[in-house]
Amino acid sequence: MEQYAIKGGNPLVGEVEIGGAKNAALPILAASLMTDETVYLENIPDVRDTNVLLDAMEGMGVLAKRDERHKAVLNAANINTTDVKDEKLKRIRASYYLVGALLGKYKEASVVLPGGCDIGSRAIDQHIKGFRALGADVRIEFGAIKAKAERLQGSHIYMDVVSVGATINVMMAATLAEGKTIIENAAKEPHVVDLANFLNSMGANIRGAGTDVIRIKGVPRLHGTEYAVIPDQIEAGTFMFAAAITKGDVTVKNVITKHLESITSKLLEIGCEVEEADDCVRVVASKPLRHTQVKTLPYPGFPTDMQPQITVALAMSQGTSIVTESIFENRFKYVDELIRMGANIKVEGNIAVINGMTHYTGASISAPDLRAGAALVLAALAAEGYSTVDDIRYIERGYEDFPQKLQGLGAQIEVIETERDFQKFKLKTG
Ligand code: EPZ
Repeated sequence: MEQYAIKGGNPLVGEVEIGGAKNAALPILAASLMTDETVYLENIPDVRDTNVLLDAMEGMGVLAKRDERHKAVLNAANINTTDVKDEKLKRIRASYYLVGALLGKYKEASVVLPGGCDIGSRAIDQHIKGFRALGADVRIEFGAIKAKAERLQGSHIYMDVVSVGATINVMMAATLAEGKTIIENAAKEPHVVDLANFLNSMGANIRGAGTDVIRIKGVPRLHGTEYAVIPDQIEAGTFMFAAAITKGDVTVKNVITKHLESITSKLLEIGCEVEEADDCVRVVASKPLRHTQVKTLPYPGFPTDMQPQITVALAMSQGTSIVTESIFENRFKYVDELIRMGANIKVEGNIAVINGMTHYTGASISAPDLRAGAALVLAALAAEGYSTVDDIRYIERGYEDFPQKLQGLGAQIEVIETERDFQKFKLKTG
């Protein structure tokens, strides 16, 4: 079983290039099947989640090939099924985007129910409510979500909770419905906007993405397009916090600084220097970190996908900090691992109370999910001594070349498989 071996204690210094956004690439890949014409995509990250989705789409008869590492060409003219059973899809949350895409185009879909990171109960009631409002019959049967409609009719839909997935799914189906759809209380995340821009480039008529009211005028068909996915806000944020946590100096390149505002403002609050240029941001952590309070919120609030990374930083700050998780109820599982590394954190419900300490010490830890896994790696990089991180498959779901990018910043991290590899790593870095 692969693990990361890490020797901590080096400040990370240098430049790192951010890839395409996983959470934008996934719905864009799924939406590519909504036209019979060819779609050319750029900036698709080479991570497990996008690869699983591409494989599943190939299994449905979509011609899907990666021209180069970050480019994909898709043609869905000869899809042979709308019944998607690929067991691998259970492992990725974004499998449910195939429902919106297939329902929009073929007026029917059956897709195995999603899994993804175990960070909370992850209901799909708002997706179902939206599809039903468009006129579909929706059932959960035999572990799959099944949706079918004679015709889809535009509707006025109020989302009871702000949901990225439900907003995206309903937007896809409504694109090919008859008449007008209004989605109120829509999610405003950059990837929602990116999908809307992508669909519009295929001939859709979507206005207001990025605000909480999205208006969609249904069109009869979509055409082929060329499109480049936006940079990954969370990968960028993770490297920005890597600078803070290791007391380093990191320039994060190929970012949209506007998407990073909530992250930048928290870094400034805890005492880092942040310099922004057109498409890069530099984070310098030369002073001791200060405590703060943070609550995760839908965009433009502080992202839940950055909650573990800021918690790792605050555990090494001066004073008492409070982190409130308001999106997912089960997103503090990694705290037990941090405590084993010396952190002083008490979790009660969705609130973590953190009493700052001076430094982590290395330990054998496990990644419980994607973002927490990345955050634990950052803690290990700041820690005194050696650590191993297990279950790195979670991290590989969403971070491309994570150890290599960290090595480029001076981190001592390697993928190992055996105890012997670990001993070799120790000899090399000792
Ligand atoms: C997306 O998940 C992301 N995943 C998550 O990223 C991210 O954490 C999350 O949005 C929030 O930003 C993808 O884009 C593939 P939601 P999603 O629907 O769409 C509740 C990562 O690390 N809810 O916005 O599943 C839900 O329980 C992953 O990259 C309902 O009640 O999130 C949660 O409390 C992890 N009913 C809240 O809404 C519904 O029908 C937000 O969920 C849908 C959601």
